[in-house]
Amino acid sequence: MTGRPFRVSGRGREPVTAMRKTGSTGSFLSVGAGVTPGADGASAYPGAGDVHMLGEEAAKGETKHARVEMGTNQGSDGALKHQPKCILLTGGAGFIGSHVAERLVHRYPEYKIVVLDRLDYCGAPENLRELEQCSNFKFVRGDIRSKSLLDYLLRAEQIDTVMHFAASTHVDNSFQSSISFTSNNVLGTHVLLECAREYGRIQRFMHVSTDEVYGGETDMRNTEESMLAPTNPYACTKAAAEFICRAYSISYGLPIVMTRGNNVYGPRQYPDKLIAKSATLLAMGKHAFIHGDGRHRRSYIYVVDCAEAFDVILHRAETGGVYNLGSEQEISNLDVVRRLVRLTNSPSDSAAELSDEECDRWIDFSVDRAFNDRRYPVDMTRLQGLGWQPRTQFADGLAQTAQWYADPANLVRWPGFLNKLVAHPALDTNGANTEQLFFIE
Ligand SMILES: NC(=O)c1ccc[n+]([C@@H]2O[C@H](COP(=O)([O-])OP(=O)(O)OC[C@H]3O[C@@H](n4cnc5c(N)ncnc54)[C@H](O)[C@@H]3O)[C@@H](O)[C@H]2O)c1
Repeated sequence: MTGRPFRVSGRGREPVTAMRKTGSTGSFLSVGAGVTPGADGASAYPGAGDVHMLGEEAAKGETKHARVEMGTNQGSDGALKHQPKCILLTGGAGFIGSHVAERLVHRYPEYKIVVLDRLDYCGAPENLRELEQCSNFKFVRGDIRSKSLLDYLLRAEQIDTVMHFAASTHVDNSFQSSISFTSNNVLGTHVLLECAREYGRIQRFMHVSTDEVYGGETDMRNTEESMLAPTNPYACTKAAAEFICRAYSISYGLPIVMTRGNNVYGPRQYPDKLIAKSATLLAMGKHAFIHGDGRHRRSYIYVVDCAEAFDVILHRAETGGVYNLGSEQEISNLDVVRRLVRLTNSPSDSAAELSDEECDRWIDFSVDRAFNDRRYPVDMTRLQGLGWQPRTQFADGLAQTAQWYADPANLVRWPGFLNKLVAHPALDTNGANTEQLFFIE
């Protein structure tokens, strides 16, 4: 892309920097979080004339959206319901998004995949490095809360599909820094929805939510119609974002599909969540941490299976549908860490397996979270109806994951990750971070 340089607000945000740009291969662009239109109100983005023309056309009533009731569509026949051409995938430098991007870029060379990610502490360009040379891939560094950036991207890339993964995701961080979670997860989603509505050419908007919106105090297997009763700040922001999606679906007819996923694990997850952190600590010969007594249970999906599920939902879900992305592999936090201790200490010799007591010598039991949901059992009948089943056994996925985190070369993608290997990680709360929280264009 050429054109005049971006103007930035006076708060020390980064100007646009071309990290990589080629004609026929994938490209990396870097856009600061605070990119704003110029003071004269003109868009600061290259090609802004086109942007405004399309915006006016959309405003004249060219939008194709029709009202849809959220959550009522079952999509049980597994037939092709959507054929994307150009996908905006937010949060694609993070854990799940990078696996989904990888799968889509390789499996569908005829689709263009544009990843938008601001590269938080948990996102890493390295997660997408393998895609750099692919002609149907582009990376843009930027913030989903920047309306002018989104307005530009949607039009310039002729996006017809949004897959929205970008979020602040760690429950521990959300106890300490809940406003930043509201900013990214609620405001960020709202800005994205509004831009999609104004643009008027989105055929499918996939909002990625979590099982945590159901709350974790019941043994009932939650269906997609169950009440939302989130308990921690992270889960509440995800539920709030869902309700805004609902408004855009029902009031404006934006073609939204929603997922509510169980826990995902596997390579490339930032090592501040249970499996990734424990595997890293144990591989370094250090003790792992357990919150409380470790009896809280979680259901796990291997990330490769998860990426396949998003592929299936992208193509086969009914517009307006909500889909639990579930797993039958439920296990207590303590048992997860004991398994990792065994993998680390006797990876291939089951005869020498450690007893529970021996495993526990490698575990430090810390004070529990401010609130810790017991479990998240979800009914996954609806997604199974689209033809998806998890393939990876927990034992196999865990072994592959432990192996990945045992290689220090895989961890250098996250500068400063050592600081997060504590019982209860928290976000940095320096001045710059706080200032960004309240930045609204
Ligand atoms: N990991 C899980 O177990 C799990 C389970 C269910 C649902 N989810 C949901 O899946 C999605 C992806 O989760 P993940 O585990 O891959 O998360 P992650 O933390 O690894 O990645 C999130 C990515 O979003 C980016 N991001 C955050 N705020 C942004 C903003 N304002 N603008 C642009 N980019 C921004 C970050 O830089 C990061 O790369 C999230 O919406 C999460 O709520 C995750």
